Amino acid sequence: MKTLVTGGGGFLGRYIVEQLLAQQAQVRILARGHYPDLVQQGVECIQGSILDPRTVDRACHDIDTVFHCAAKVGVWGPFKDFYETNVIGTQNILHSCQAFHIRRFIYSSSSSVTYEGKDQIMADETLPYPKTFLSPYSQTKAHAEQLVLSANGKNNVLTCALRPHLIWGPRDTYIIPRLLTQAQKRKLRIIGDGKNLTDITYVENAARAHLLAAEALKSGSPVPGNTYFITQGKPVVLWEWVNELLKLFDLPIVTKHLSANMAYALGVGFEKMYALLHLHTDPPLTRLIAKQLSTTHTYSIQKAKDHFGYDPIISTAEGMQRLLIYDSKERQST
Ligand SMILES: NC(=O)c1ccc[n+]([C@@H]2O[C@H](COP(=O)([O-])OP(=O)(O)OC[C@H]3O[C@@H](n4cnc5c(N)ncnc54)[C@H](OP(=O)(O)O)[C@@H]3O)[C@@H](O)[C@H]2O)c1
Repeated sequence: MKTLVTGGGGFLGRYIVEQLLAQQAQVRILARGHYPDLVQQGVECIQGSILDPRTVDRACHDIDTVFHCAAKVGVWGPFKDFYETNVIGTQNILHSCQAFHIRRFIYSSSSSVTYEGKDQIMADETLPYPKTFLSPYSQTKAHAEQLVLSANGKNNVLTCALRPHLIWGPRDTYIIPRLLTQAQKRKLRIIGDGKNLTDITYVENAARAHLLAAEALKSGSPVPGNTYFITQGKPVVLWEWVNELLKLFDLPIVTKHLSANMAYALGVGFEKMYALLHLHTDPPLTRLIAKQLSTTHTYSIQKAKDHFGYDPIISTAEGMQRLLIYDSKERQST
């Protein structure tokens, strides 16, 4: 299998790359950064942006399967930046896939494409896209997902979209480090009553889902043109899980509460202030963060199980141990 992983040096992308290498696949990545350790492992690295069609053509040439993982992720930033990377970038990859008759295109989407700030309980893929989005990230990921799905079958390219929810694990540079730093500074607050459930996805399970979907992405199977929620399949009480993590890392647990309404109002305020002042760093709270931390959002993974045999083989407890081991090794090496 000749594969291209866009964003293959990133958090999720790198696990997809490693699992492909373990299956003896030929792996090329396309990313703006330089990843010499991946080159050492036999990965061909094309350095450039998905916004540059010529670079994208170069990356897609002679490939049979594309894992499109590159994205602008985050809770804050100008809409234009999210739109360019997530929508135009995805369009560029799709065009090259069609031009080169690439057989399979697996899109790393996100459960947030369906999220409008209300409780979602065991939601499945029949859930419509919301009318309004709480962040440019989710809006542009939803736009890109629709492009991917409508491209299915054109020029014989088969497409599908995976929607993992809250990916975590070793090498995460965003969610877990941010959480631990906030806890260290004793700035964390339980938003709402602290009883809300959430689904989470251990990163190696999320990556495996991509490989399984790719295997099943062929004509005659139900996968082409479909979306799939991906999680651990076992929701956690969000704030209990956070506190378990904090205990594991010997950090003070979070006990103080902030009401969900107050957190939302602060999110609105911070967003206005940051927009007015053109601040590009992440605000302490946004509307999306306030809602995500105080509502229940759980998703059914039945469709992924039925259509391509997804099974979250690494449990949450095992994932947490792997995270801890990774963290202590990192501390020793610095
Ligand atoms: N983390 C989560 O909880 C989560 C949940 C659901 C879905 N997802 C999806 O999973 C995918 C990977 O997310 P992640 O958490 O692994 O984020 P990440 O570590 O930031 O990975 C994204 C990668 O995309 C690359 N990239 C960004 N802009 C690019 C551009 N213009 N051209 C080429 N490459 C570009 C970046 O590499 P360079 O800087 O080297 O270019 C980056 O490493 C994304 O599509 C995201 O929407 C993530």
